[in-house]
Amino acid sequence: MDSSVFIGPEALPALAELLHRPAVSRVFVLTDSNTARLCLPLLEKHLPTNYQLIEIPAGEEYKTLASCEAVWSQLTEQRADRFAVLVNLGGGVVTDLGGFVAALYKRGIRFAQVPTTLLAQVDASVGGKTGVDFQGFKNHLGVFQAPAAVFVDPQFLQTLDVRQLKSGYAEVLKHWLIADGAAFNQHRRLGWLTDDWTPIIRESVALKQRIVVQDPLESGLRKLLNFGHTVGHAIESYLLTQPGREALHGEAVAAGLVCESWLSVQRGLLSPEELDKIETFVFSVFDKLSFVLLETAAIADFALQDKKNVGATINCTLLQGIGNGVFDQAVTLTEIAESLRYYHRL
Ligand code: GLY
Repeated sequence: MDSSVFIGPEALPALAELLHRPAVSRVFVLTDSNTARLCLPLLEKHLPTNYQLIEIPAGEEYKTLASCEAVWSQLTEQRADRFAVLVNLGGGVVTDLGGFVAALYKRGIRFAQVPTTLLAQVDASVGGKTGVDFQGFKNHLGVFQAPAAVFVDPQFLQTLDVRQLKSGYAEVLKHWLIADGAAFNQHRRLGWLTDDWTPIIRESVALKQRIVVQDPLESGLRKLLNFGHTVGHAIESYLLTQPGREALHGEAVAAGLVCESWLSVQRGLLSPEELDKIETFVFSVFDKLSFVLLETAAIADFALQDKKNVGATINCTLLQGIGNGVFDQAVTLTEIAESLRYYHRL
């Protein structure tokens, strides 16, 4: 499942080398409406001149089977064969959806991930998870399928606004919280903004790959990477049902990091002082998400569909100290709702 990840200025030339191999019949580039405009011009010189562009609308609300069908239709109309390569140029929606499309088209064609957001560069494009949302549940349909390789060029981050950068930073924070307490403490002092994201991307990708290589299909250890996501996905899914209140993935995950750290304290796994450090760091980057107390039960209900659950048991990843995640910690719906109430009071 582990694929090569090229990071830095050598990434796009490495992609060009792959795409110009004789074993590649055709090159299709999947973008959304933003990356077609902002990122494709940076990629274009590395593509074969006869590449075909396929574009989907930008936004989480288009991470659907209907969008997949539109892409499959275009591949079919363009007579893409099994030696075609799909290059997914975009954030988490494009890389997840494009990987899923490629995995199923003619039982699987190769795909290359070219993540353009911090979130996709440090997390979504790495590790072979692909998929789409379904009936309001995040990444409900999907398969594990390794890309041919991942090509990370930090210059794409210049196309992002601060809100998008922060969204990706939530996944960086998550990586430190589950596996690198020293980095968490170091960056807590330095602050989140930087002129050069490359070292942070390299460390984050390496940390994720160390986990994924041991458990590519998420039967155990990889569940660590879901820290913050049981509650985070529930918040994100709930807010998607509330027009005008949608949160970015990382914004919801940041709230999930706080809620699940609080649950860790309730279990005696994390100290209140550590929770305080986590909250201080999280709120130095992210604004608090707003919901009313009456909504906490409805938000918590979304956790019943979490992919880590076994039957009715909600399995959460918690922290046994900063830098040390523990997976398969059963929590109740009531506890999830309580954690949301705690967050609301902050
Ligand atoms: N984003 C979590 C994982 O790839 O497992």
